[in-house]
Amino acid sequence: MASAPSTSSPNQWETKPDSVRGSELASDFTSSLNVDRRMYREDIAASIAHARMLGAQGIISTEDSAAIIEGLTAIRGEIEDGRFPWRPELEDIHMNVESRLFDLIGDVAGKLHTGRSRNDQVVTDFRLYVMRRAKESVAGCRRLQRVLLDQAAEHRTTLLPGYTHLQRAQPIVFGHAMMAYFEMLGRDAACFNAAYDSADMCSLGSGALAGTTYPIDREAVAQELGFSRISGNSMDAVSDRDFALDYLFAAVKTMMHLSRLAEDIVIWSSQEFGFARLSDAYSTGSSMMPQKRNPDYAELIRGRSGRVTGALMSMLMTLKGLPMTYNRDLQEDKQQLMDAADTVMSALEAATGMVGEMQIDAARASEAASDPALVATDIADRLVQKQGMPFREAYAKVKESIFSGNVDGTESVPEVSASDSVQMRDIPGGTSPKQVSVAVMRGYGELDAARLRGEW
Ligand code: ARG
Repeated sequence: MASAPSTSSPNQWETKPDSVRGSELASDFTSSLNVDRRMYREDIAASIAHARMLGAQGIISTEDSAAIIEGLTAIRGEIEDGRFPWRPELEDIHMNVESRLFDLIGDVAGKLHTGRSRNDQVVTDFRLYVMRRAKESVAGCRRLQRVLLDQAAEHRTTLLPGYTHLQRAQPIVFGHAMMAYFEMLGRDAACFNAAYDSADMCSLGSGALAGTTYPIDREAVAQELGFSRISGNSMDAVSDRDFALDYLFAAVKTMMHLSRLAEDIVIWSSQEFGFARLSDAYSTGSSMMPQKRNPDYAELIRGRSGRVTGALMSMLMTLKGLPMTYNRDLQEDKQQLMDAADTVMSALEAATGMVGEMQIDAARASEAASDPALVATDIADRLVQKQGMPFREAYAKVKESIFSGNVDGTESVPEVSASDSVQMRDIPGGTSPKQVSVAVMRGYGELDAARLRGEW
């Protein structure tokens, strides 16, 4: 057997000679090792739980069970220390671990796979993997929420123009914009928690598709692995991957929010706007134009949201139309999800650093917010409140004075500053500094509660 390099990448064919043997191509085509070796911890934990249960149920002897567990523990050590002899020709992580177990403990290794199939094994590992990544993702959302809150707390009174259609609309405080993203990221964390719950179901015991003839204790295995429930139908359990879709959707939604935040940061930090300044760590100079501070991190977050959306679409296409039950197509589930999880985690981390270190030019932002046209609505509201004028009439009057270039000069039209304007929006969810302070306090409370739940 020709030995392929153990670190072969999906692109290894580019570097191989044309004369490469057909059998090598065939085994490489079907292999998932480069992807699923990242689930080695989950694979070994699930095998240990299964072996322990087989011993406890008297399906294998307790000595054999102990020998298998000891062998699996040694294998985990080998992988972690980089000493594990990976065999690319063995298709996947499951075959690699099992084959190594034979090397270490001899024929007893053959008893591990009693009452189990790779079909229920792979989905159990993958569920554990998705649960781990979902937890990490929740923590990532919480860390970003924390820096958004700190910025909001610092800028409860910093004025900024708020936009609709990217046209200056009404004054807001900068903290209010930060709290908008705080809200979004809170819902994203909830979505990742829901994806965790979706994955939290132990499929071991489903066998290849129909269940198993051995008197296994499914609940004991589930409990040892940290699952809160077991699957209710063996055919469903080995064939569906909807929990992966749930994770991917949470990832896509988060990336969509991050790309909006990134876009706002690109706008605010442009010379034309000049409201925000990115730290050196999160901006890049141009190799040609010495004056440039490019928002590369923000742009890459925005750009990579497309990649994660692609992963969700890819998984949906893989799953649609698959007949019952396990089909090899399902092997394609992991690569997309792993890449999406890596991408969302690194984007959350980059956004956290970038927002945390971002400086606001309060003078410039408040000057832009003090454009008299931005308080047009407030002037109309004052005419309604003080003079009992119908709103539509007040609207027409203010509009006319704006287009005659004389907003605050008209005698009968009251004067309103940008700061008055935000203060008047003293309603739950509004932009008044008082309401933003309330929202910030509530936000810190939510993050404390999330910490008590162990989310971050
Ligand atoms: N490498 C396979 C996967 O990731 C493991 C399950 C293989 N099962 C089978 N019946 N060929 O899906």
